[in-house]
Amino acid sequence: MKHFILTAAALLSASASLGATEVLTSPDGRLQLSFDLTADGTPTYKMDYNNKPVIATSRLGLELKNQKSLLDGFKMERVSRSSFDETWQPVWGEQSSIRNHYNEMAVCLSQPDDNGHLREMIVRFRLYDDGVGFRYEWPAQDNFTYFTIKEERTEFAMTGDHTAYWIPGDYDTQEYDYTISRLSEVREKMPAVKFSYNVSSTVFSDTGVQTSLQLKTDDGIYLNIHEAACVDYSTMHLNLDEKRMVLTSWLTPDARGDKGYLMASCHSPWRTVMVTSTATAALDSKLILNLNEPCKLEDTSWIHPTKYMGVWWEMIVGKSSWAYSNASAVNLDSIDYKTMKPNGIHGANNDNVKRYIDFAAENGFDQLLVEGWNIGWEDWFGHEKDYVFDFVTPNPDFDIAMLNDYAHSKGIKLMMHHETSGSLRNYERHLDAAYSLMNKYGYDAVKSGYVGNMVPRGEYHYGQWANNHYLYCIKEAAKHHIMVNAHEATRPTGLCRTWPNLVGNESARGTEYEAFGGSEPYHTVILPFTRLQGGPMDYTPGIFVTKLSEWCNNKSNVNTTLCGQLALYLTMYSPLQMAADLPENYEKYDDAFQFIRDVACDWDDSRYLEAEPAKYITVARKAKGTDNWFVGGKCDAEGHQSVVRLDFLDKGRKYDCAIYQDAPDADYEKNPSAYVITHRTVKKGDVLKLKQARGGGFAVSLMAK
Ligand code: NOJ
Ligand code: CA
Repeated sequence: MKHFILTAAALLSASASLGATEVLTSPDGRLQLSFDLTADGTPTYKMDYNNKPVIATSRLGLELKNQKSLLDGFKMERVSRSSFDETWQPVWGEQSSIRNHYNEMAVCLSQPDDNGHLREMIVRFRLYDDGVGFRYEWPAQDNFTYFTIKEERTEFAMTGDHTAYWIPGDYDTQEYDYTISRLSEVREKMPAVKFSYNVSSTVFSDTGVQTSLQLKTDDGIYLNIHEAACVDYSTMHLNLDEKRMVLTSWLTPDARGDKGYLMASCHSPWRTVMVTSTATAALDSKLILNLNEPCKLEDTSWIHPTKYMGVWWEMIVGKSSWAYSNASAVNLDSIDYKTMKPNGIHGANNDNVKRYIDFAAENGFDQLLVEGWNIGWEDWFGHEKDYVFDFVTPNPDFDIAMLNDYAHSKGIKLMMHHETSGSLRNYERHLDAAYSLMNKYGYDAVKSGYVGNMVPRGEYHYGQWANNHYLYCIKEAAKHHIMVNAHEATRPTGLCRTWPNLVGNESARGTEYEAFGGSEPYHTVILPFTRLQGGPMDYTPGIFVTKLSEWCNNKSNVNTTLCGQLALYLTMYSPLQMAADLPENYEKYDDAFQFIRDVACDWDDSRYLEAEPAKYITVARKAKGTDNWFVGGKCDAEGHQSVVRLDFLDKGRKYDCAIYQDAPDADYEKNPSAYVITHRTVKKGDVLKLKQARGGGFAVSLMAK
């Protein structure tokens, strides 16, 4: 075995001199990508940054089922090159305009099949100043139409034993804390599978990790491996071969073990490697969005950034219930809601919802999410049933017409909730009726969820079939002018550019885990490097009473200070931002709540001022259509001293500045709600020195005078 590995490696390195190497350079000339074929016709690529290798020679190709594989025996037919430079305007985002500038090289390869007929495959590379995207394309052709992927074998050969920020490869969930280790330590540090409240978990390998995978080399280069525009294809994981230091694609299978059914003409998603010399540049990157197709919706006027509250956290902490009764029903038909005894703790009851509506409206929110409004919650979790919810029948104590009218009369909307419990077919059957009901009552946003094993049995959350389902729902929702925020769905790959009604996803460990034992204090200073590369996260920040036992029977602590929670409205970019705590908890800290009232969630400009994965992130953002700026800084359990130079402000202008800062003795474990608010007038060039406590953060509003 060892002998074989050495021989293969020798062959790969020898290959460079055999054929003509095709070289592609980034617009700024710093990144260079080389494509080559080995002696046996295996496609390979490698990448240099500032003349130093960042991706060593890596093989490309796919293994097919019951057909000759697309791994070797290729000849280069032709190479075409082009350049692209365009600036586009997202419907919502961190910036009002985004530059999409790359050099492209499409390598057309041919390979004889078992009968000697030629098959064509194109490998298309787009090289940006901050990374590469490449994909496989199969044009329509006579001898190659239908094929089944056994495995994609795209390699990412590392040039060293880099530091990695990773979560275990899993076909069903991303709801993990990150591990920070050398690549060589992944096997040893692979966490044991924990019970997850939310979804089934299917870990497939001792050295499998998920994308987006953030890496840092010993030379201080930041690498990030992910994918863009995953459509009609399975989500990619990476499996590490520690001996060769090579990460290889590992697709999510279907119930039969197949990894994708394709029909030419078609293509894979883009495989991406981001390369930057600073961490702030990694956060600035728009590589994933740029590789997605432009917006497909003609009218986007109905899509809007949304700040919302929810009848939610009280259920998550265990104080109230989604279910109306304590019955343990086995199907919807066996529940007689008219005669059933309410359990007395149903959260989505008329009075409670009205209380939240009043508070949300008084404080300027756009929407109120209500979970547990519909029948079926008595028996929804952990069953592989093909029915559970119908998404249209309210519980008896939730007057859907009255509550929507009440909300509208106060200038806000209710936000719909569709928990599918993983029963995708059931959801698809009810989808049109469910969205039509939303239209009837004036809902324009839905939080959907995919808790539990996928139904039919054996399909996975990240497989091709489920991925197609999520996109189907987004497209159908667009027809009804509905914005979608899907939890437990596949990890995002920038499709929100094409379908901007996809305003959020969870697809990572969200705030809910702070009520299930807590998350690592560094969690939120990794997510922007990883999960957020593919699109915004509905992280649900804003928990003010972080010691939950102060108000409910839950022993968990939220592992940040109160100011750390405020910072998340800036550092965790999303056009959909929740204030997740309860009205009574906000009333206790009304002066700090002012920041949540003030903060925007759509931006003309964003500047990452300082960052280091798992340590700290500080960002300044200019609120869309205004001259107001907001700055947020979040750090890990070590604390951090930030020096913020207000260089981004307009010259000659004065700003009312409110600073929400951890008190000198604040500490996420010992003293989480100690904060100091100061007000002053500032101008361009002024400097703010802001100390962040352990697990802390800060938030600043700068209102133009
Ligand atoms: C998991 C989601 O992440 C959470 O927000 C939701 O409340 C529950 N599922 C129930 O749908
Ligand atoms: Ca979840």
